[in-house]
Amino acid sequence: MHAITITEPGGPEVLRWTEVPDLEPGPGEVLIDVAASAVNRADLLQRQGAYPPPPGASEYPGLECSGRIAAVGPGVEGWNVGDEVCALLAGGGYAEQVVVPAGQVLPVPDGVLLAEAAGLPEVYCTVWSNVFAVGRLAPGDTFLVHGGAGGIGTAAIQLASAYGARVFCTASAAKHNLCLALGAERAIDYRSEDFVEIVKDATDGRGVDVILDNMGAKYLGRNVTALATNGRLVVIGMQGGVKGELNLGALLAKRASITATSLRARPISEKTEIVEDVKTHVWPLISFGKIRPIIDRAVALPDAAEAHRVLEAGEASGKVLLVR
Ligand SMILES: NC(=O)c1ccc[n+]([C@@H]2O[C@H](COP(=O)([O-])OP(=O)(O)OC[C@H]3O[C@@H](n4cnc5c(N)ncnc54)[C@H](OP(=O)(O)O)[C@@H]3O)[C@@H](O)[C@H]2O)c1
Repeated sequence: MHAITITEPGGPEVLRWTEVPDLEPGPGEVLIDVAASAVNRADLLQRQGAYPPPPGASEYPGLECSGRIAAVGPGVEGWNVGDEVCALLAGGGYAEQVVVPAGQVLPVPDGVLLAEAAGLPEVYCTVWSNVFAVGRLAPGDTFLVHGGAGGIGTAAIQLASAYGARVFCTASAAKHNLCLALGAERAIDYRSEDFVEIVKDATDGRGVDVILDNMGAKYLGRNVTALATNGRLVVIGMQGGVKGELNLGALLAKRASITATSLRARPISEKTEIVEDVKTHVWPLISFGKIRPIIDRAVALPDAAEAHRVLEAGEASGKVLLVR
């Protein structure tokens, strides 16, 4: 089979469509004929040599895919050859075939094209596990997501709105209309506006209950200031650096909490639980049309370098797919 390999750490040009050994599913695994994969920001870091795959994971990039089951390993129940599925992967999605633990496989939601489904698992597993499981977002709560027009952001706006939260986001000005159309009450231009002032004004000085943050150090202090009493800041990205200064007094006075999580390195058992929760709580909303895949564009899988360039340049809104 063929896969995108990373010839050496570097720019998009190090991604090469290469002939690689065939795969077979082990016990508890399924083999998927990949129809499409999708680009995640973590793939850019992996390509640069800054985010190695966890032990046991495929060395090829790709944290999600959709396709048809080509073979099932010993002990797998509930999935059959030919089923159309999508899957949360620890790696290996940028390939003609991938093996994945059966618990990380999801059906393609009704009304979604097979290729489009490739862009759903990583963002909805991340948003569900962080905003709802860790952040305990509830109907009527106020929610701020940074990077509202990105893959994660477009999913977070839709899911939080569907659950009855008031949603604020930061995004480039040119992408505000998309964020508003997806359910954000206010999109904030992170280049020219102060998100703390805006969310405080909009909540009568109270602040927001939950923040989903992709920026890390750069926004740490301002995020804590923007939180309401008992607020929850959940950090999932470090686009603005890893080391920040924290005013513990401000956190303590608000009885607020900060959590940082990573999905990729979690054990299979935890990913299986998250996937099960997403199937129960998110998939019906997609099937009913309350949430839809937001696809910026589809690029041929062998041209993954071009897809990386697009994401890196900030040109995308929503997901960039890699299709066979
Ligand atoms: N921890 C985990 O398990 C996990 C899982 C998945 C993703 N993530 C992280 O989540 C983040 C988003 O991932 P993605 O795949 O959705 O990436 P993406 O589609 O490339 O989105 C990145 C976003 O960052 C925004 N951004 C850039 N500078 C910003 C700033 N100064 N303030 C606010 N937003 C800014 C961009 O906004 P504009 O395009 O509007 O300029 C863009 O929407 C990444 O940091 C990724 O590593 C973490």
